[in-house]
Order: sequence, then structure tokens, then C-alpha cells
Amino acid sequence: MKEKIVFFSAKPYDKVFFDKANAPYGFELEYLETHLGPHIVQAIQPGTFGVCAFVNDKLPAPVIDVLAGKGIKLIAMRCAGFNNVDLEAAKRSGVRVCRVPAYSPEAVAEHAVAMLLTLNRKTHKAYNRVREQNFSLNGLLGFNLFGKTAGVIGTGKIGQAFCRIMKGFGCRVIAYDPYPDAALEKAGVQYMSFEEVMRQSDIISLHCPLTPENKHLICRETLDLVKHGCTIINTSRGGLLHTADIIQALKTGKVGYLGIDVYEQEEKIFFKDLSAQIIEDDAIQRLMSFPNVLVTGHQAFFTEEALTQIAETTLDSIRIFAAGEEPPKDRILV
Ligand code: NAI
Repeated sequence: MKEKIVFFSAKPYDKVFFDKANAPYGFELEYLETHLGPHIVQAIQPGTFGVCAFVNDKLPAPVIDVLAGKGIKLIAMRCAGFNNVDLEAAKRSGVRVCRVPAYSPEAVAEHAVAMLLTLNRKTHKAYNRVREQNFSLNGLLGFNLFGKTAGVIGTGKIGQAFCRIMKGFGCRVIAYDPYPDAALEKAGVQYMSFEEVMRQSDIISLHCPLTPENKHLICRETLDLVKHGCTIINTSRGGLLHTADIIQALKTGKVGYLGIDVYEQEEKIFFKDLSAQIIEDDAIQRLMSFPNVLVTGHQAFFTEEALTQIAETTLDSIRIFAAGEEPPKDRILV
């Protein structure tokens, strides 16, 4: 009998891509729409080999302890980030954890650039305007990317892809990463301190993981450093931005444009159709009310190429663990 894997936060597109990728493996895949968290973990049937979770599932120690108690062997994250999993608890309880370290980093980098180009050329406004037969250009004035300084925080796989694209636009690209990449430096990206990147950049794009150390990396103190009117793009994790502080900086014009694909309280909002409901989160409503803020609902990863790779890598890791072997190191978290 093939191993059973229970998927949480599963959407119709997850089923399409995972069912297709499962053809050569034949695992028993069960798709649940609900988030994984304390409210549901008890319902998982003993005999299940693993759970497959996503960015807004909650895997703190009590959830992992229940999983371990039920004999679950594996938590397979079908994403790169893992800030929502208590890895220490997993280590303690002997549950293995894997992820998809890279699935088309270009998908995320290109979305960051798409947000930037929307904001700097106001194409979101132009789209609506011409539909009303309004061809006036008033209020659509943009700015060139050519010659601007783009600051990149975190130059891993996605940050590097973003750097390459910005170089193509003719930007000066500067970066901060505790582990600078020599090849990127050779390609003309200049590393400097975080503070210096904040000071010198016209555009700042966040591509570092969220950790306890860098929570609210962008807050009042660090926003004090930026050029007046700078653009900030966050496709990384919502917790990197202090929402109230960024709203204040938008009000004063210190931040001229903001593009966010992630939001600190996103688990209650993103990936859902709330069009007929009242959203109680005032901060996201305030953010969406600014004409110079663009919000997308954690869609940077959402391309054909990325979903195919996520499904194939996740199932390959499950096969390897099920065979009692070890997948490539960069997929293993615990
Ligand atoms: P990666 O692991 O290849 O690179 C992360 C880089 O950030 C590393 O070079 C690391 O040294 C650096 N870093 C760590 N802490 C830092 C700090 N405090 N300041 C500056 N740099 C720091 O990760 P990858 O694949 O590039 O992904 C980056 C992040 O993008 C993920 O952690 C995830 O949160 C986010 N992401 C978002 C997606 C979306 O759909 N919006 C999809 C995939 C990832």
C-alpha cells in the first residue's frame, strides 16, 4: 500500500498539479481546504505517512507533538519559507521536515518587478481609466528605472534573479546579505551594510527569509534612513514590515510607493474570496486605500513552471523519505 499524505490549505490548483505529478508515484493524496493548526490536527488519521503544508499553516510545538503522537513521519512544506514551523519541536519529536528550496526563483523575482513597473508607470490606474474612455494622462506621471539605485535585501536565489533583471534595466544594484555572493559581486552588484542600502536606494526589494532576528526589519527607525519618496517592494514575508510604521511613512510621503505580495496578518485574508464579506483588518484596508500602494495576495510564486516544480520536488522528497533515504540537503530542514 502506498503512503498517505494529507494536504492542508489545499486549493483546486494544488490538486491539479499534485495529481499530475503523482502519476509515477501513486501516493494516496488527501486534500483538505482547512489550514493545519491546533483546531484540526487531532483529526488526522493514524497511519498517515506525512502532511503537506503551505505558507499560512501553523506548525507550532503543540501541533507537531500531536503529529508525532499519531506516528506522522514527515512534514513536507510545499514552499521555500518555513518560518511557520517550529523546527526545534520537530527535531525533538523525531518528525522530519522538508521543503522546496527553489522552484523558479524567477517567478518571484519577476513578480517583484511586475509590482515595481505597475507602481512606477501606474498601469493599474491606466487600465481602469481607458475602460472609462478617459485617455487623459493627468496623474499618470511615472519615473524611469534606468539610472536608479535598486537595493536588494537578501541575495539568495530570488534576490539574485531580481538583481539580474534590475541590471538589465540599467539600474545601479546594491545589496545587503550577511553572506555576499562572489559571482553576483563580479556581475557588478555592490554589497554594503543594511543601513547603507536603505540610505542609497531609490527602490528597495526584500528577498530575505523572515527570522526572529529580522522581524519588523522595516520599521520607523529603518524607514528614517530611506530617501524621501523611495519605493519598497516586499515579496518575501509580511512580518519583515512593521505595518503601522509603513502606513505612517506613506502618509508623510517618506515612502513614495509600496508593493506588497505578503502581509503580516495575511493568513486570515489571503488565498480566499472575501468579496462579499466585511474585512475587519483595518490596516490592510488602509494600505489598499492608498493610490500608491499595490497589494497582491501572495501570488509571486504562482506560475505554471513554479507549481510544476513544487509538486515534483515535494513528491520526490516524500518518495525518498518513504524509502528510508535522504533527499538533497537543501530540501531537508529537520
Ligand atoms: P534563499 O535561502 O535562497 O536566500 C535568502 C538569502 O537571504 C540568503 O542569501 C541569506 O543569507 C539572506 N539573509 C538571511 N537573513 C538576512 C537578513 N536579515 N538580511 C539580509 N539577507 C538575509 O531564499 P530564496 O529562495 O531567495 O527566498 C527568499 C524568501 O522569499 C523566502 O524566505 C520566502 O520568505 C520568500 N518567498 C516568497 C514567495 C512568494 O510567493 N511571495 C515564494 C517563495 C519565497
